[in-house]
Amino acid sequence: MVQASTVDNMNASTARVATQPSGPIFSLADYEKASRHMIDEGVWHYIHGGAGDGITLARNRSAFDDIRLMPRVLAAGLPDMRCSLLESTLAAPILLAPLALQKLVHRDGELASVAAAMAQDCGFVLSTLTSSPMATVAHSAASASTKGATTPLWFQLYIQPDWQDTLSLIRRAEDLGFGALVITVDAPITGLRLAELRAGFSVPEHIQPVELAGMKAAPTSLEDLLAAAPGWHSIEAVCAATRLPVMLKGVLSPEDALKAKALGIAGVIVSNHGGRVLDGVPGTIECLPAVRAAVGPEMTVLLDGGVRRGSDIAKALCLGADAVLIGRPLMQALACEGALGVARMLKILKDELAMVMALLGAKRIKDLNRHCLWKQSCC
Ligand code: FNR
Ligand code: LAC
Repeated sequence: MVQASTVDNMNASTARVATQPSGPIFSLADYEKASRHMIDEGVWHYIHGGAGDGITLARNRSAFDDIRLMPRVLAAGLPDMRCSLLESTLAAPILLAPLALQKLVHRDGELASVAAAMAQDCGFVLSTLTSSPMATVAHSAASASTKGATTPLWFQLYIQPDWQDTLSLIRRAEDLGFGALVITVDAPITGLRLAELRAGFSVPEHIQPVELAGMKAAPTSLEDLLAAAPGWHSIEAVCAATRLPVMLKGVLSPEDALKAKALGIAGVIVSNHGGRVLDGVPGTIECLPAVRAAVGPEMTVLLDGGVRRGSDIAKALCLGADAVLIGRPLMQALACEGALGVARMLKILKDELAMVMALLGAKRIKDLNRHCLWKQSCC
């Protein structure tokens, strides 16, 4: 079984392990740099590319940098970062985003990343396009969880061309104890990702989305894809078919968030798919305040896209997110050090968030609000 809990006993700044990356790791940026040499060229471009000219990909990051923090002095204390999401609790407001085919970068794939998330008491969302069977991922999660923990383990659902196939994925998630369904709604068609096309990326034979085996394949022409694309009626059908809470991932517009709320959706994830689908949309942190204002304080609102520092997490929470998801850094840390790398990556983020909260004078997650931000930069 994949073990990731040992990172808790290691000094995150000095520890080195057997499959060492090329330099010491102090930040998520270090993993990005180190993983360049650990990942196949084509796979690298598949993971890191953005759609179109990469405007949204870059904006996800620069929009965070444009927001400034406003510290409070003489108020530091060890912060409590625990938070609750739906029926679960987490050590910190961090989840691993659903990422397809994690075996592309490490033989343990999703088994390693879920073990790391559970060991760090951070959430995990498994992609429909998992390269490891859902059952073994659920088993790996259970083995790595601390006794009594209720860390989120959710399933990301891509609605399939055939409704019976969609139903079968829903039933598997329910039967295996996944706690919520996250329906991704922002990618009815794949973005135009030129870097991966130019690099000639194709998925190797031995790494496949194993849960889709035997299911009807998605159409290939744009016309047929759009004809088969899910609509709001598909979301209603999923909600009617499951007892699990349902979230929508990929919402940017407040109007769509309100529509989701009216349908009884448990939460929305403000996301642009890491800038991989429609280029030219705003950075996610720019869209967050209007979504939160539209749905009110009670509904669960998460965010992903460009979160690379504890300070980014603090900014997202100040602007209305309940938690954030981490995408590409998962693949980078996994490529470098397997489960231990992913656990260490999460630990770095937790440590950074604790430091930022201490300097902002925020003792609990709910203390992170707009007063912690420099007004001129965000309001
Ligand atoms: C993704 N993303 C994604 N989303 C989803 O709902 N299902 C999926 O299978 C995938 N697969 C996937 C693969 C790869 C390689 C990447 C980079 C992304 C999108 C992902 O969940 C998330 O929204 C973004 O990655 C967040 O942005 P950052 O953190 O990568 O900047
Ligand atoms: C991607 C799909 C799998 O972004 O969601 O690669």
